[in-house]
Amino acid sequence: MARRKIVAGNWKMNKTVPEALALVRELRGAVAALGDKVEVAIAPPFVALQPLHIALEGAPLQLAAQNCHWESSGAFTGEVSAPMLAELGCAYVIVGHSERRQFFGETDATVNKRAKAVKAAGMTPIVCVGETLAERESNQTLTVVERQVRGALEGFSGAEVATFVLAYEPVWAIGTGRTATTAQAQEVHAAIRGLLTRMYDAGTAERVRIQYGGSVKPDNAAELLGQPDVDGALVGGASLKAADFVAIVKAAG
Ligand code: G3P
Repeated sequence: MARRKIVAGNWKMNKTVPEALALVRELRGAVAALGDKVEVAIAPPFVALQPLHIALEGAPLQLAAQNCHWESSGAFTGEVSAPMLAELGCAYVIVGHSERRQFFGETDATVNKRAKAVKAAGMTPIVCVGETLAERESNQTLTVVERQVRGALEGFSGAEVATFVLAYEPVWAIGTGRTATTAQAQEVHAAIRGLLTRMYDAGTAERVRIQYGGSVKPDNAAELLGQPDVDGALVGGASLKAADFVAIVKAAG
């Protein structure tokens, strides 16, 4: 079954609102010119979501958030809920990014709670998994990734999971300029699909889109995205420049 590739730009804590609007002005036409073969999303900081929701009306660019809380409202100072993000036009929410696991105490259990909140609010989670360098060097990659996938998807049905996006982001490849080789990426992506087959069934596993993330750039995108189980990219640094991000979207098509 052909899965539609999805390229998403995770802007992280970058771009003021005027800068975000300027970047989207550049992206709009360029992405539209590439046609609709590849799905494209951008995940700006929370404060830019509302202005970008307005600026993106009619554009072939989906809006994504970088995180959300699992409760829909209440006394959680500093947090943003999934229904609030849905109201701003978000189609996707990234959950479990390694920076959140590393710096903000995210665990498999809280990733699962966030994914449930995202789904309940009518959006799609982009569930990030990936091993650290120490874990890779001690041959723990597949064990760690399996634990993260099982933890994040706990309690979901196959029909629900089939619509999800997973992102394999080896921590050692994020922002380092050190990309996984195509063989390393394909190996883990195929292992995740095998795991989904065991957890659910082959039909479900075939439908789930699995992005690769970690130093994806215009010059390595085509090779990575050419792998049979790599269904897109989650792009950090290179999504902050219109020309680079558009080149990666083009490479996916
Ligand atoms: O979520 C995207 C990511 O963590 C990869 O970042 O800068 O290595 O493309 P970067």
